[in-house]
Formats: sequence, structure tokens, C-alpha cells
Amino acid sequence: MAPIDPHSFTDSSHPLTTHVSLSLYLDFNASTIHASALLTLSSPFSGNLSLDSRSISIKSILDPQTLTPLPHSVSSSPDPIKGSEVVVVLTGQSQILILYSTSPSASALQWLSPLQTFSKTHPYVYTQCQAIHARSIFPCQDTPAARIRYDVVMNVPSSLSAVMSARHVRRRLPVLEEAKHLDVLSSVVWCAEDRVVEEFVMEQPIPPYLFAFAVGELGFREVGPRTRVYAESAGGEVLDAAALEFAGTEEMIKQGEKLFGDYEWERFDLLVLPPSFPYGGMENPRMVFLTPTVIKGDASGGQVVAHELAHSWTGNLITNINNEHFWLNEGFTTYAERRIVEVVQGGDIATLNIGIGWRGLNDEMERFKDNLEFTKLKNKQEGVDPDDVYSQVPYEKGFQFVLRIERQVGRTAFDEFLKKYIATFKFKSIDTDTFLDFLKANIPGIENEINLQLWTEGVGIPEDAYEPVSAIYTKIISLAEEFKQGKMPSEDEVAEWKGQEWELYLENLPKSCEPSQVVALDKRYRLAESKDYEVKVSFLKLAISSKCKGYHGEVEKTLKSLGRMLYLRTLFTALAQTGGTEEKQLAKQIFTEARETYHPIAQGVVESILSKYI
Ligand code: BES
Ligand code: ZN
Repeated sequence: MAPIDPHSFTDSSHPLTTHVSLSLYLDFNASTIHASALLTLSSPFSGNLSLDSRSISIKSILDPQTLTPLPHSVSSSPDPIKGSEVVVVLTGQSQILILYSTSPSASALQWLSPLQTFSKTHPYVYTQCQAIHARSIFPCQDTPAARIRYDVVMNVPSSLSAVMSARHVRRRLPVLEEAKHLDVLSSVVWCAEDRVVEEFVMEQPIPPYLFAFAVGELGFREVGPRTRVYAESAGGEVLDAAALEFAGTEEMIKQGEKLFGDYEWERFDLLVLPPSFPYGGMENPRMVFLTPTVIKGDASGGQVVAHELAHSWTGNLITNINNEHFWLNEGFTTYAERRIVEVVQGGDIATLNIGIGWRGLNDEMERFKDNLEFTKLKNKQEGVDPDDVYSQVPYEKGFQFVLRIERQVGRTAFDEFLKKYIATFKFKSIDTDTFLDFLKANIPGIENEINLQLWTEGVGIPEDAYEPVSAIYTKIISLAEEFKQGKMPSEDEVAEWKGQEWELYLENLPKSCEPSQVVALDKRYRLAESKDYEVKVSFLKLAISSKCKGYHGEVEKTLKSLGRMLYLRTLFTALAQTGGTEEKQLAKQIFTEARETYHPIAQGVVESILSKYI
């Protein structure tokens, strides 16, 4: 009896779930899902089977063969991070049927009222399961050590449609027969005139954190032979803009295949979510989720797509066995993303991205200076909420480690190694040691060239990490240096700058500057009004820490119009950590007013930032 994951009640001596059949009735009025989940284990089991759940109310658990109840218990006080353990007593069964309802506060789900959408007329709901939120949608062994296939029957209002990280099978009328397991619902409700059923099936085994759906008034545009972009259809503007922005997707997929092997997921569709989506992108297989803030009209959203696409190999095919090895997902993906960007957008852009990442990594060392554990690639997460320690470290230190190996062995050899690594471990969940063993076996002697242990277990940034060099990178860094002496970049110098150049520049300015100089910079280059949120948020962060109070209105407007956690984290931290009483007060007031518009995960993260500093 041993846990296999610090964030799950799953036990190492229990068989893992291999298949889940879900029947979901979405009640938008009550922000609740009434559901049944049929779990299939890899082998029959006798004893107490442990499952994860969070704020789920279980009606009954049955043996699906006999429909007799199975004894079970739900822990009375939930663990603040893991949620509630469900223990089911089995006597040789390999399947269990759970009848339950979700809670309106389910951490994976954001229920949007019509007013929170673009259309303003229809409600919307979407999921975000990574890292440990799938358990708030269905009881499961919510650890990436388990890989599940699934099929889903989803009953939704007929004015809406559904998409999933799965193959869409059909849209059809509800059938009386299928309501019978959902004993909280009468078949009349299931089969009401204004309801429709969407069916999906996921044939590839995936970790539960990749389970995803969205339901709303959705439309789509074709952007490539295996890619559609979905978004709210109202007015068609978001769809049109998204179709333009992501026109280059097929080229990226082809490039990915060249570098990393076959694309194994058949389709690569994109869903553009409402502004409250808490991430830039989420690599849900077959249906990547994207923030609408990446649509900037200048093809730079391509970087986020390249990143989520890269996860199709690193993360979704090869998965970290638990969150302590998260760098295996994000570090490799950041490397793969930059290889794709290098080919489709050019070496200069890839270098700028490396430079922005390098700055971000160095800033994280400051953030974690009293908690050095989280400057390690492999780290201990017992008792730690992964959302609280989310950082650039697994991305950028992970990237640096992968790049270090590439630089040691050369690109050609490394490309061959990468392909072999992916082919060897595809559809498996692995830990850091498994990777290191494979590395040492395939590149003999590598451990004498690179201090592998220092890289994976050591704190801080190893000395053999690589700060990028390129003309444009060096120029921007030196311009940022000159700002300290009071020099502003000239119109000529910034003539060619797009979002990434500005972001790199702003991020390399001192944390706090002379207020009049900050205001003058904005007057000249209109950064606070930039449509590019990376630029806007970088500038507002500087304005807050430089005590330029004139920007408080813009900060408030920004925090009330979006929910991407990267931006919330940056601006709320700037207000609460570097600000005085007025800024702290403003942070509290904005959060009180905007809270309900944020995804539950983002609410939790902002709450912990405010409670840390205020
Ligand atoms: N898988 C992540 C998002 C994530 C990480 C969600 C951890 C929940 C827990 C995704 O692939 C990602 O890294 N997104 C980035 C995109 C960026 C690096 C281009 C983001 O959202 O900022
Ligand atoms: Zn990622």
C-alpha cells in the first residue's frame, strides 16, 4: 500500500482504470452536472479501491453487472489539495458504476452566464482539468500514471453544441432508455423537447488531466486538412479573426511530424475560449483550448499554437508520471515549440522567445529565493498545491537542460535521439530517472559531459545554461540598460519591433524606474494601450512597481476583462507585493468585484497571492 502520486489517493497496489463511460446531463440553471460514470479497471480487484473526488456528491455506487450497491465511503473532511477520497469495497469486480452530481463550485468547471460570453445570449461551460481537477467532474484515479480511454454521452440544450478532447460521433435526440441510471433525473427531463445528445469517443489512452469539453453556441471555420477552429459563432468576428491567425497550423503540424514522428491524434482542432480562460493554451488532445488574447492579428498567436501542438508528442504521448516530474512535459515542449517556431517563423523570433524565457527564468529565482525546492526540475510536492507553485522553472530550466544536451551532442544526433525517445515511451507515463536512464543508454558517456544530477536535482540555474546570442537580442538588452541612464529608445530603433521585442525590452528594465520616465515611455509608444497583452501587462507591471498611480484605472480595466492567470498573477502580485497601501487596497477591491468572472482555479490562485502579501 503506497501512494504513487502526491496529489492522488490512488494506491500502487490497485489496478488502474483503463476506460470510463460517462453519461452527463448538463443543467445550466443549477451549474450542475448529473452523471453516471462506469469505470473499468485493468483487472478484477478485491479490497478497498481508492478514488479521487472533489466536491462531488455521490448518490450510489453499483456493481454494473448486478446493479447491486457496492459498500463505499467518502472521506468526511476533504484534504485541501487532494479533495475527498472515495473508497469502494470490491469483491472481484473489474467495473464500478458511480451515480453522482457535480457541485456548482467544481474546480474544473467554469459556468458562464450569457453576459459573460461574446454572444451575450447563450450560457457556456468549459473545463480545465490540469493539474488535478478532473476529479471534480468524475470520481477517478486522477493521476497521470493512469491512462484512460473514454466515451461520453452528453445531454445539452439544443441551442448549444459541444466539443471535446475526443472524436465527435454524432448529435442526436435523447432516448428514454439512457436516463435510467441517472436516478436524480426523470426520463422526461432527459428527453425534454429542448435537449439534444452529443456523443464522443476517445480511442487513445490519455491521462485524466487531458479530459476536456466545452459547451456553448459554437461555430467553426476550416483552416487546414485536419484543423478547424471553433469559437462562439455570434457575429462570426472571433471565428474570422481566429481563422486568419491560425492559417499556418498545418505547416506547423507537418514540421512537428518531421521533427518528432507521426502525429498520432488524427485531428488537431482549436477552440478559442471566452476571455476568462485561465491559460494561454491547454493541450487537450484533438482539441486544443486557447485564450482569445492570443488573437492579435499578427500571427504571433502561432507561438502558443506551436507550444500546444508540441505537447502532442511531449506531454500527451510521453506524460510525466506525476507533477513532481512536470518538467518532462513542459521543458521538452518548450524546446519542441521553439524548434517548430524556428522553422516556420524564423531563427530571430525563436531567439527572442529564448531570451524572454531566460529573463523569466531568472525572475523566478527571485520569486523562489526562500523556497529553493521549486527551482529544481524534479521537486517534492507532498502537501503542495501544483497551482500555487506553477512557474517558468519547469518550462525554461527544462528547456535549458534539453538545449544543453542538444548542444553537447549536436543537432543531428539529438534529433535522432528525440525521435527514438518519443517512439520508445509513447502512450507511457514516465519519471525523470526513466528519462535519464534512456539518455545514458543512448548517448554513452553523456553523464561525464553534463552534470545530469545537478541539472535535475540541483537548485538555481547551472552555470552551463545558455543565454541566447543574436544581434537583435543583444541590441534590445543594451537598450534596456540605457534606459537606466535615462535614455529612451528612438523611433528608428523600435521601428521594426513587434510584441516580442517590446516584451523582451520591458522585462529587462529595472523592476522599478523613475515614474516620469515610465510615463514618458508610454506617451511615446502607447504601451499601456497595446492590443498585445504581453506588452500591455509587462508595461502595467512596471508602472505599478514604479508607483505611477495614473495607471490604476487601466490596471483595473485589464483585470476585469480577462482571466488568463499569467496576467492575473503578474498584476495582482505587482499590486500586492510591490505596492503600498493604496495598491494593496486596489488589489482587494478589484478581486472582490471581478472574482466571479474568473475560473475557479484562477480564483484560488489570486486568493493565495493576496493572502501572502496582504
Ligand atoms: N499545459 C499547459 C497549461 C497548464 C499547465 C495548465 C499546468 C494547468 C497546469 C500549457 O501547455 C501551457 O504551457 N500553456 C502556456 C502557453 C505558453 C507557454 C505558450 C500558457 O498558458 O501560458
Ligand atoms: Zn505546456
